[in-house]
Amino acid sequence: MKKTALITGATGGLGREFVKKFATAGKDLVLVGRNPQKLANLKAMVENRYAVRVETIVVDFSTETAAEQIFDHVTAKGIQIDYLVNNAGLGGQGVFVERTMAQDVSMMRVNMLVPTKLMKLFIPEFVKRGAGKVLNVSSSAALIPGPLQAEYYATKAYVTSLSNAIAYEVKDTGVTVTTLMPGAIETGFAKAGGLTQTKMFAHGALPADVAQAGYQGMLAGKLNVFAGLSAMQRPFVGLMPILPKKAIMGFVANQQSNSN
Ligand SMILES: NC(=O)c1ccc[n+]([C@@H]2O[C@H](COP(=O)([O-])OP(=O)(O)OC[C@H]3O[C@@H](n4cnc5c(N)ncnc54)[C@H](OP(=O)(O)O)[C@@H]3O)[C@@H](O)[C@H]2O)c1
Repeated sequence: MKKTALITGATGGLGREFVKKFATAGKDLVLVGRNPQKLANLKAMVENRYAVRVETIVVDFSTETAAEQIFDHVTAKGIQIDYLVNNAGLGGQGVFVERTMAQDVSMMRVNMLVPTKLMKLFIPEFVKRGAGKVLNVSSSAALIPGPLQAEYYATKAYVTSLSNAIAYEVKDTGVTVTTLMPGAIETGFAKAGGLTQTKMFAHGALPADVAQAGYQGMLAGKLNVFAGLSAMQRPFVGLMPILPKKAIMGFVANQQSNSN
């Protein structure tokens, strides 16, 4: 039987690359996004180029029941999900005391609540079947506190911690949970988060390369996959927990300030 991948944030820079990876591998797709036109265009592109079936679900993750709507939709259609890719997410520059409650709550819903609920809804079925793979898109931001994007870094720390712990809990069930932790990528992310003028986004990695690393890591059942890190970032990954926090935060704040 053909396998099916459910991909959130499918219309975004990294999401579209995941779509191509799964479609190239002949997997049917459930594409989730909040913009009906973008989703329709993506569906048409995939159906035109690949011999796979595409179902779309339009839902805004800042709404209360987004995850339940997705689960109910695929259940009602009798679609079995084999791969769950929690990719939708957003950043947002600004100091914590100036960002609005609405902005931060919305980010928490998209980055944390919906992926958590989707895992809660789908992983029990995966465990029952003794098969299923989850790929959660976190960020290298998960490793450190991030002044000027404090909320975003904290949401990604949550995603990595939760994903790793669940991966451990299901390790003997045939189910895997892989966390992708990229550095800066050239997608719509910087524009959406007001970060285009920052040093951090002066040179981003290509989304196709990051998606390839995440996809391969998920197939291999890896715990964590780092991708798209700059040569300067790479040596710091292992050192991060022991480096002095204040110095690191000074560096991160500088990278996330507007450069002009
Ligand atoms: N780009 C980076 O530098 C970078 C680095 C590390 C990790 N990441 C992570 O990579 C993932 C993908 O982001 P990206 O880089 O591909 O950015 P992107 O191009 O901005 O794509 C983000 C995706 O999330 C969707 N999304 C945002 N808010 C949503 C909401 N309220 N409801 C439903 N969907 C929503 C967007 O939908 P629309 O198309 O409708 O906007 C889009 O499909 C995110 O989890 C991000 O945190 C990105």
